[in-house]
Amino acid sequence: MTRLHDADRRDFASDNYAGTHPEILEAIASANGGHQTSYGEDVYTARLQTVLQQHFGPTASAFPVFNGTGANVLSLQSLLPRWGAVICSDTAHIQTDENGAPERIGALKLLTVPTPDGKLTPDLVATQAWGFGDEHRAQPGVVSITQSTELGTLYTPDEIRALADQAHALGMRLHLDGARISNAAAALDLPLRAFTTDAAVDVVSLGGTKNGLLFGEAVVVLTPDADGGLLYLRKMDMQLASKMRFVSAQLVALYEGDLWLRSATHANAMAARLRAGIEHLPGVRVTRPTQANGVFVVFPAGVVEALRRRWRFYDWDVATGEVRLMCSFDTTESDVDELVAAVASEVA
Ligand SMILES: Cc1ncc(COP(=O)(O)O)c(C=O)c1O
Repeated sequence: MTRLHDADRRDFASDNYAGTHPEILEAIASANGGHQTSYGEDVYTARLQTVLQQHFGPTASAFPVFNGTGANVLSLQSLLPRWGAVICSDTAHIQTDENGAPERIGALKLLTVPTPDGKLTPDLVATQAWGFGDEHRAQPGVVSITQSTELGTLYTPDEIRALADQAHALGMRLHLDGARISNAAAALDLPLRAFTTDAAVDVVSLGGTKNGLLFGEAVVVLTPDADGGLLYLRKMDMQLASKMRFVSAQLVALYEGDLWLRSATHANAMAARLRAGIEHLPGVRVTRPTQANGVFVVFPAGVVEALRRRWRFYDWDVATGEVRLMCSFDTTESDVDELVAAVASEVA
């Protein structure tokens, strides 16, 4: 096959614009050859259980899936009865970016809460955690949070623990969308279990793709009795890979050593470098804390258009002109410096 793209071009649109980490490609190649039992009865999926138990504790069980939307919908569906509802931020990926998958595939109701920084608090959850036993209201059964959040912010372990305690006291479960869980752990300088298992999270959507996998995530059940038929739901939700060894091998390669941490630490450092480079430039307004690998900015008039002649990045809020600049495992210092120099020259 002839290469059709410029392999030296990198943008700031999303961490999933990046390709596959070379160590992941090596893992796929190592897992290739010969036959292995399909649908998860392979040695790599077995090894993944051990690897993730080292991170999340001996009772964790992992269900590899194709993508993050699938991991979220499956997690939530497994935690809820047919009449259940999920309390989440109005900026949660499940609300803003999964089309109607939670509602149509999961048949769940989302009860959203406005959150200025993408984070729920017990007080915010309380605005939707009511009506238990009232047949007229979808029954709140899960609180779902994202770590790191869609706005690039972080929960501390204590903040998550408080949400878990509140949820459990009300008979609900706590789900954590960890599409960028590694960025959070790297930024907090904590092991993954410090803000999941040890903070009483029930189920995690464990990220892979954004941190260098070709594709693949996993639903990780931390509370043993929270596995509401995941084995069956995964097939029903079309997330059961027949050649699962290749999804599992990638996740093993990411999480058995320090690749997850190395890559996330690097992506976060590139975001910090970018912020430091632009935040003091005239007219540039960095709108949110840069705690993980995303930088949110409003540029002076005309700058976005000029930058877009070279780079791709997303509008975050068209009304305010806020854009999101995302760094990934393969963003280089010179990528960042080039963007900073372009902003400096545009605002000069
Ligand atoms: C917070 C969050 N959750 C989940 C996902 C996973 O989405 P996908 O279904 O595209 O893998 C994403 C990707 O953008 C995300 O940002």
